[in-house]
Amino acid sequence: MKKPRTMRFWSVVLTLLLVYALVKWGIPTVSREITELPFPLTVPGTLMFIYMLLTVVALFLLVTFSDEHLEEFLYPIRRFLRGEYGKVTRAAGLVLVPALVGWQVYDVTIPKVQQPSSLRIQHPSSNFPKKNEALKNPFSAATDDEVDGFIEQAQANQVSFIPQVQADLDSWAEYIEPDHMLEAITTAPMHTFLQELAAGNVSRDTARAALIEKHLFEGRALYSMNCRPCHGDSVAGDGPMADGFKLRPINFTDNGTIETIVEGYTFWRVSNGGPGLPTEATPWDSAMPVWKLNLTEEERWKIILAEYDLAQKTPRIPESH
Ligand code: HEC
Repeated sequence: MKKPRTMRFWSVVLTLLLVYALVKWGIPTVSREITELPFPLTVPGTLMFIYMLLTVVALFLLVTFSDEHLEEFLYPIRRFLRGEYGKVTRAAGLVLVPALVGWQVYDVTIPKVQQPSSLRIQHPSSNFPKKNEALKNPFSAATDDEVDGFIEQAQANQVSFIPQVQADLDSWAEYIEPDHMLEAITTAPMHTFLQELAAGNVSRDTARAALIEKHLFEGRALYSMNCRPCHGDSVAGDGPMADGFKLRPINFTDNGTIETIVEGYTFWRVSNGGPGLPTEATPWDSAMPVWKLNLTEEERWKIILAEYDLAQKTPRIPESH
């Protein structure tokens, strides 16, 4: 019988290491080249397990192919256990191998702090009253009667504003002495309306556009008073108080926020605030106040009109449309 060599043992160890390295680093690297993504596609743990298991099975078959093969494979192990590589090597090996296995088992079984597998449900529907879905903002489309009423008020220069802005407008008027109170609103549609009003031929369309400008004006004022501290001037969720909250105020300019929900939902959300959300939405405490306690329906709708306008977004259209 020829003297058994140590080659077979080391080729088994090397093959295992090689396959492991290939799956662990090789595939992700190649995947990156192929997909040209800025990140590698990692191999899932279960797949890694299957690959390694198959490798072990194949090596086992190879090693046990004949008595000779097995003898070759076991040769260095036997020598090691007999202490033929030195007593210190044997002692180190006998401590190291169980320690490594133990550490691996410990690592697998220890409970870990992990990121939650699902994101927070920001728009839960379970307690959202379905009838709200069809709610329309009463200020986004005025009826003909409302427009006519507005024209009459404007002709008499007696447009009524919400009390929150009236006092400021009065002192502005005292100082500026404008021809018309609506001059306080400096947008283009209002300008056109005032021109037509002065010329004595107002069209309903112009008046309708001007009426929305008035609602937006009021809505913006209410937004500044109530929402700006958290949601910010730029409606990007960066108000002066925003940094104080772990769950940051929503950035309305983000595509994933108010644009993805129907107006009725926004209204419900503003009305009920953070405390109104169901449990599945609140692993964190939300600082969003319950606005139905402080603002009338009219005020809430005007703010929402301004909120979408400031963010330059349009609400989602309800499914039924
Ligand atoms: C005290 C800070 C604070 C104030 C003031 C505040 N909010 Fe919020 N708001 C938040 C926080 C925090 C969130 C995000 C957490 C959550 O989802 O409840 C939020 C979420 C929202 C959302 C949900 C957006 C979405 O995509 O689901 C809307 C709409 C909203 N706020 C509108 C308003 C309006 C309108 C006002 C003023 C009337 C206002 N907020 C005032 C803190 C505030």
